[in-house]
Amino acid sequence: MKKVLGISFGRKMANCDIMVKHALMECEKAGCEVQFIRADELNVSNCTGCIACVIGMVTGRGKGYCVRHDDFDILDGAVMQSDAVILACPTYETSVTGRFKTICDRIGPSHDITFRKAAYEEGLAAGKPADQLPDPRAFKKRSAALIAVGGAMTENWIALTLPMMYEFTFPMGIDVIDAVEYWGAMATENVLGSPEMMERMAKVGRNIVASINAETEEERLAWRGDEEGVCPVCHTRLLQVSHDKNTVDCVVCGSHGTLNLVDGKIEVSFTQEEQDRSRLRWIGKLEHSTEIKTQAAPSGSIKNLKELKAPYVNYAAKPFTSEE
Ligand SMILES: Cc1cc2nc3c(=O)[nH]c(=O)nc-3n(C[C@H](O)[C@H](O)[C@H](O)COP(=O)(O)O)c2cc1C
Repeated sequence: MKKVLGISFGRKMANCDIMVKHALMECEKAGCEVQFIRADELNVSNCTGCIACVIGMVTGRGKGYCVRHDDFDILDGAVMQSDAVILACPTYETSVTGRFKTICDRIGPSHDITFRKAAYEEGLAAGKPADQLPDPRAFKKRSAALIAVGGAMTENWIALTLPMMYEFTFPMGIDVIDAVEYWGAMATENVLGSPEMMERMAKVGRNIVASINAETEEERLAWRGDEEGVCPVCHTRLLQVSHDKNTVDCVVCGSHGTLNLVDGKIEVSFTQEEQDRSRLRWIGKLEHSTEIKTQAAPSGSIKNLKELKAPYVNYAAKPFTSEE
């Protein structure tokens, strides 16, 4: 039985909860096992930046786990069991919520599949027992649908939410096959007042079922969103103009393209080579993890670091003296 995990980052029984549950109901109707998690009910602390997860994998001493053990382990365990995830996140200040970002920081880079796979294969070759290797379920092919929700009536007030939501999926190589942006949530008291959006959520469920039951990889990965978008890899529309003002980068997935105006329309072309270098693809991810493994300066490279740091250690550490 295929397993679909729904995660809502919204308020209890508000828009995100209902939208995810509605999509899950459709998956259940199609014979899937489903689980629903409300992220706000999890106690997940921030990534401290210690990078022990990556160092452990690179040195072969660790399995890619965080040194902190809290409710992130519940979410991680459910993701590892799943074949697909459906995520819905409210827009806070034009972007994802703080908790969404906290969870994403705990996912990557510890869950980066290129780090994990290398640690797994090297450990296996060295004859390590299974319980000392990264969890092989991390390499399972998974599909995802992303739902970005905003209260504002104007679309650009949710502009960064959907792009940011890829931070949950890309480290683990989870393939996003559908995405929905729902703004103007405050125009109805609740999404239940929008039959069109509720039907779209049912379609999210059907799209996820079609993807996880696909017979070919091409069919599993087929894009099922309403629009093709601009980037051919991630289908988003968020581009960054390069310093030379001739080319653009997809902010979400890192594909590099060329921008042209044709008959007053913006056209962006991305070569196949550049598409493969996207952080959503194996080659692009591997390029990044290799860069870190081979080019990051090891600690101790700056000889007199302690001396250089000294002026900053206790600098400006006292509270302001004046109330003004
Ligand atoms: C702190 C905060 C900031 C918000 N900022 C935005 C925003 O920038 N754009 C927007 O469209 N809605 C914004 N909203 C509205 C929420 O996105 C909206 O209420 C959404 O429905 C919440 O999801 P939920 O109903 O699943 O809890 C904000 C809400 C809060 C609490």
